[in-house]
Amino acid sequence: MLTNEEKRVLFYAADAPPTVPGEVTPDTPLESLNLNWRERDLPESQRTKHVHRLHPYLGKFIPQLVEIFLRKYFRPGQTVLDPFCGSGTTLVQANELGIHALGYDVSAFNVLLCRAKTAQYDYPRLRKEVLGILERVRASTQRQSGQLSLWEDRGIYDTSLSETDNAYLRLWFAPQALRELLAYRHWIDAGEYEYKDLLRIILSRSARSARLTTHFDLDFPKKPQTEPYYCYKHSRICQPTTEAFKFLHRYSLDTLRRVREFSALRTDARVTIVHADSRTSDFPPVDGVITSPPYVGLIDYHEQHAYAYHLLGLADERVKEIGAASNGSSQRAKKQYQQDIAEVFRRCLAAMPSGGRLVVVAGDRDNLYGEIAAMVGVEVEAILQRHVNRRTGRRASEFYESVFIWRKPAEPLDIYREVGRERGKYIVDALAFGF
Ligand SMILES: C[S@@+](CC[C@H](N)C(=O)[O-])C[C@H]1O[C@@H](n2cnc3c(N)ncnc32)[C@H](O)[C@@H]1O
Repeated sequence: MLTNEEKRVLFYAADAPPTVPGEVTPDTPLESLNLNWRERDLPESQRTKHVHRLHPYLGKFIPQLVEIFLRKYFRPGQTVLDPFCGSGTTLVQANELGIHALGYDVSAFNVLLCRAKTAQYDYPRLRKEVLGILERVRASTQRQSGQLSLWEDRGIYDTSLSETDNAYLRLWFAPQALRELLAYRHWIDAGEYEYKDLLRIILSRSARSARLTTHFDLDFPKKPQTEPYYCYKHSRICQPTTEAFKFLHRYSLDTLRRVREFSALRTDARVTIVHADSRTSDFPPVDGVITSPPYVGLIDYHEQHAYAYHLLGLADERVKEIGAASNGSSQRAKKQYQQDIAEVFRRCLAAMPSGGRLVVVAGDRDNLYGEIAAMVGVEVEAILQRHVNRRTGRRASEFYESVFIWRKPAEPLDIYREVGRERGKYIVDALAFGF
């Protein structure tokens, strides 16, 4: 019998024209796929189309890549699971194709973002809410005359937040910006709004832009920027921002446009999002999995949106993040990472039928995934390499990303039985989720 390493298939379809996702069918041969889109083949506006850019999120995969594997391996009416759903790329793309989607994530902010992206909206009502709250905040924070000094701090705090949250907010926002953000937050809580999750996303996106940071370091700023500075992004001297209302205004309009665009494509396929640690979750039955797991020592997913956790009072479960950057990338961290990912995949496989696909997108620079495949006992159908050549501001980068296409073997292996024996329980869960 061949080992997974011997069965490993590498495809470099570099000569073929870049794949057009909409043309992929279940019969498209894997060998014909060319996933090496250049900027002109797949411009940023398409990679961030409609709700995919409701809020910045570092570490998402591109919708077109997901679409290809959804079209190849799933039919409308089937169910795809993403145990690391992040900003919801799999969920949104599955819904567009009429495929039910089930997403799990341990980060409360990511779950909120997924819910806001995939909810069904009554557009006229949504528009009324988004513009209505903006007007309330404008009326209560924008003085026509006798303007408050932007740096004047008149005891801005929010009694519903902890001392830590208030201290964080006072450190990272100028007083006027904080006043505007807290007014918006107040109205989300106090107002009779149906679409509060989406309003929270507008608030969080505005807060991200209104922090006292440089324009070129919005992902992981280390300390507040309170003085003018030379800006690498704009090649001139820039000032840290002191207000938030202009962002609330800009992102309100952008959000309405994006939601309306997605509404035209949205199907009635179900989207279920669960806030949980996938290492300890019993997934209900699904037809297959498409996911991009966290990588070892790369990104802290909670820290990336620290401002949102503090402003919205979200539960911080960073200790449950797999491969957190704060834990480093030592040999020990890598071993732990492999065990954690294997545990999640065993649970995924227990929820899938034999022959179902587990598609994993990962920049596996440490070669950890061959061993993970062996640990969970999948058949390796193919490993596609994708050349990613990305230019975004100072994060210009070039790297290879692998798409692992694994199949659940026909004969269930013992390793699944352990998780699968409680199958009766899945039926109960499935009913709870409406599957
Ligand atoms: C690479 S990101 C997924 C990005 C996603 N594919 C997208 O397009 O937005 C990995 C995700 O795994 C989540 N995660 C980390 N540890 C987890 C755990 N123990 N259980 C569930 N999710 C976890 C992180 O919060 C993060 O959102």
